[in-house]
Amino acid sequence: MEGLTGTLALSVFTAVLGSLEFGYNIGVINAPQKIIERDYNATWVHRYGEPIPSGTLTTLWSLSVAIFSIGGMLSSFCVGFVSEWLGRRKAMLINNMLAFIGGSLMGMAKLCRSFEMMILGRFIIGAYCGLASGLTPMYVGEIAPTSLRGALGTLHQLAIVSGILIAQILGLESLLGSPELWPVLMGLTVVPTVLQMGLLPFCPESPRFLYIVRCQEHHAKSGLRRLTGRQEVGDMLAEMKEEKRRMDMERKVSIPELFRSSLYRQPIIISILLQLSQQLSGVNAVFYYSTDIFTKAGVQSPVYATIGAGVVNCAFTVVSLFLIERMGRRTLHMLGLGGMCICALIMTTALALLDSVPWMSYVSMLAIFGFVAFFEVGPGPIPWFFVAELFSQGPRPAAMAVAGFSNWTANFIIGMCFQYVADLCGPYVFLIFAALLLFFLIFTFFRVPETRGKTFDQIAANFHQHSPGGMMDMDMDMDMDTDKPSTELDYLGEESNN
Ligand SMILES: *[C@@H]1O[C@H](CO)[C@@H](O)[C@H](O)[C@H]1NC(C)=O
Repeated sequence: MEGLTGTLALSVFTAVLGSLEFGYNIGVINAPQKIIERDYNATWVHRYGEPIPSGTLTTLWSLSVAIFSIGGMLSSFCVGFVSEWLGRRKAMLINNMLAFIGGSLMGMAKLCRSFEMMILGRFIIGAYCGLASGLTPMYVGEIAPTSLRGALGTLHQLAIVSGILIAQILGLESLLGSPELWPVLMGLTVVPTVLQMGLLPFCPESPRFLYIVRCQEHHAKSGLRRLTGRQEVGDMLAEMKEEKRRMDMERKVSIPELFRSSLYRQPIIISILLQLSQQLSGVNAVFYYSTDIFTKAGVQSPVYATIGAGVVNCAFTVVSLFLIERMGRRTLHMLGLGGMCICALIMTTALALLDSVPWMSYVSMLAIFGFVAFFEVGPGPIPWFFVAELFSQGPRPAAMAVAGFSNWTANFIIGMCFQYVADLCGPYVFLIFAALLLFFLIFTFFRVPETRGKTFDQIAANFHQHSPGGMMDMDMDMDMDTDKPSTELDYLGEESNN
């Protein structure tokens, strides 16, 4: 690992603690659902002297799960503004206050007999995650030298899935997922926060930010010297100068313009639909509710099955890192969507046959593992690539904000509605996801161009060739697996990846 200095390693480690925490809070409410619900009920009995109506309980729980995404949605909109105003490092530092407050509220909710505190805590921690999911990849992408950018950038994604897995393991009833200890499980999220707050003062501010945004050449230089461990940093500074020059040439595009201009309308519609395909694939239904799903599927030890899903998730994140460099984005996205669709169908069949064929519970478990694996192959990482690749510097920040907003909104809808729909449809709930997946597969096949190994100009030309009326009709590119040189993985410097 040439170029990996101590300062660089420390800075990257410190930054991805935010991603770890993001993952932790996605996975943490899964295993202890039943136990926390029991406490909500006990609180209700304590306050009103009668057991909680089951509809109210479902509402309160779904809200506790899903309000996380509302927080994320609101704050992900502020990433651009906050990171320019405070700088990357100070923004991360201050963001930690949110995690601290959110974690404390959730940790003390049981003690105070208040589900309101739990819900508010989830909202605030969601706001933290929305910012962290933008700031972390941005900072890591900016401090990493070009040769290490791809490798270091993937740590963000790896930290997220590790966070999910850690939360699932700690959520075991024999560890912290017990009636007495679940507040510790919730409050534990402040540990990485405190660690990050302690370490951030030792990390340099992003030189790219200092130079390009703040025009502080001197500070940028000293930051570069610390990060590279070299005295001579003229070549890197020259590269930044070139980037600044290109940025100054291109006008910033606002969000309404993105929809009004025929130049951007097609790419933004594609970006939104790809984000929706990530969330509406139903993967977060699995990450939020898998223990409950496995229980209903008759799996013997549902919490271990949930951990199994977390392990599969981690493993396939690593697999996809290798695939992404070798195969086209469009191919992988379609492969992932198709695989997930088939797994959803298998799972529905297995659940429907459960009463007559007992071993179907294993089939449904394997189907969920497959579902998660295919997610990490395509719909997990790919949509963020596309946003970064379909837009050049000028419109990219606005496009990222729109994409992030669509992503969190869909995330909220799944978190909020899944439990109701699952109660309503029983074993057939995953048929809805299968239908959505099929729709997104068809959409990708007909409307999404391959972007790998192409420049912005080539991609843009693709959109204009066949679109006199403005409706989507673009050149389909089928030769995705020729040995064209892969573009640098520069989405990693851009935005969140859920
Ligand atoms: C709430 O707790 C009471 C006992 O205190 C129990 O009878 C009731 O079934 C519980 N309600 C729900 C929805 O779990």
